[in-house]
Amino acid sequence: MVSRALPNKTATTKLAADLAPLLAGGDLLLLEGPLGAGKTFFTRALARALGLVTDARVTSPTFTLVQEYDTEPPLVHADLYRLSDDERGVFELGLIGQRDDGALLVVEWGLPFARVLGGDALVMKLVRQPRGASFSATGPRSARLLEALARIPADSE
Ligand SMILES: Nc1ncnc2c1ncn2[C@@H]1O[C@H](COP(=O)(O)OP(=O)(O)O)[C@@H](O)[C@H]1O
Ligand SMILES: [Mg+2]
Repeated sequence: MVSRALPNKTATTKLAADLAPLLAGGDLLLLEGPLGAGKTFFTRALARALGLVTDARVTSPTFTLVQEYDTEPPLVHADLYRLSDDERGVFELGLIGQRDDGALLVVEWGLPFARVLGGDALVMKLVRQPRGASFSATGPRSARLLEALARIPADSE
């Protein structure tokens, strides 16, 4: 288990910047944690760390379900909150196909659908009081990501 304290938004942005160069197309990142924990904020920071210009409009996908960002690798951001137990509905979004095509898949509320999303997920669990994140891995690729992240000191520049 890798953990980070996220006392302010700068710390969350720093975590996204640390993770960005480790991630590759085809990776799956699942974001867990209650509403307001910072899942969407983190995804925006990650998109920017992957080359999306700061001024680009990056909206919450809560009402659009899936948004694709012009980053390298392309980032596909989904929020499955409203599909809470609709496995078929999630499958029909076609996310696993985009992952196979080389997208980095970042999914809020995706843990129940890890299998439908292709498995081997880096799971980031955000908590609010105090703010922080802890990571776990569900397969060999995500385990390597976890190891690489563990090697980066939380306060490195
Ligand atoms: N350390 C922090 N990390 C992330 N967000 C933070 C932090 N401190 C305050 N916030 C605020 O908390 C809110 C998180 O909202 P959001 O990212 O939409 O949460 P979620 O997607 O988990 O529901 C944002 O308004 C953000 O500005
Ligand atoms: Mg959100």
